Amino acid sequence: MSSKSDRWTVARIRELKGKKFACVTATDTCTARWAEAAEIPLVLVGDSLGMTTLGFDTTVPVTMEMMLHHTAAVVRGRSRALVVADMPFLSYQISVESALRNAGRFLQEAGADAVKIEGGEFRAPLVRELVRNGIPVLGHIGLLPQSVLALGGYRVVGRTLEQIESLIADACALEDAGAFAIVLEAVRPDAARRVTERVAIPTIGIGAGPHCDGQILVIHDLLGLNEAPVPQFVQQYAHLGAQAIEALRRYREDVARGEFPGPEHSYD
Ligand code: KIV
Repeated sequence: MSSKSDRWTVARIRELKGKKFACVTATDTCTARWAEAAEIPLVLVGDSLGMTTLGFDTTVPVTMEMMLHHTAAVVRGRSRALVVADMPFLSYQISVESALRNAGRFLQEAGADAVKIEGGEFRAPLVRELVRNGIPVLGHIGLLPQSVLALGGYRVVGRTLEQIESLIADACALEDAGAFAIVLEAVRPDAARRVTERVAIPTIGIGAGPHCDGQILVIHDLLGLNEAPVPQFVQQYAHLGAQAIEALRRYREDVARGEFPGPEHSYD
């Protein structure tokens, strides 16, 4: 049984600067328990759950209510990990007031420890406001999936000097505004290294090469839960989706053959 003092706090995550650490997404109590048992310090309830779990094509249709529901389920499955809730599209873009209210709901109603928002320099004033009001923020720069419609697709960032300088400016602005760490998504490894060297808070990479302090993967990709193709940078540590289908097939066949339930399989 873990005590509250074992908990990963944002202060402890900050101390991971310069160390290598693994983070993962979780979508429900079951995946949160798996992450917890594997001693993962930071679990993100990413809005990628819109695609991995809810069947949408992008993260854009994901709403506050969906994210609150999944975040509360993840919180019920963790004991030590820091739970970060991803603020969905339009939950923080409209006004500072609605962003504060929505971010506060993740802490108050769902029990999250922090929120994540997408955007760099232009989001820094909002990050400052959230942090000033007691809401820890994980930044997210590089590829911003909530802007996929405006960007016209998912593209790697940090190819040109101009893009690298802009990423560094984004990271510095977020750090200055009080973000406790920054996700770098789909950033060229050399650009990610330069950003990581420039800030004193941890960077957490996804498709951003080996130079970030931490790494994060979407749990469905890592475990092969969906039998869908995964991005090239993902290392699949298991193929649980295929195993699940095989188990279900065997179950169906056992029932059809009258082999399950056997005489011993009852409630007694
Ligand atoms: O939604 C998500 O899973 C994320 C990760 C890609 C960092 O934002």
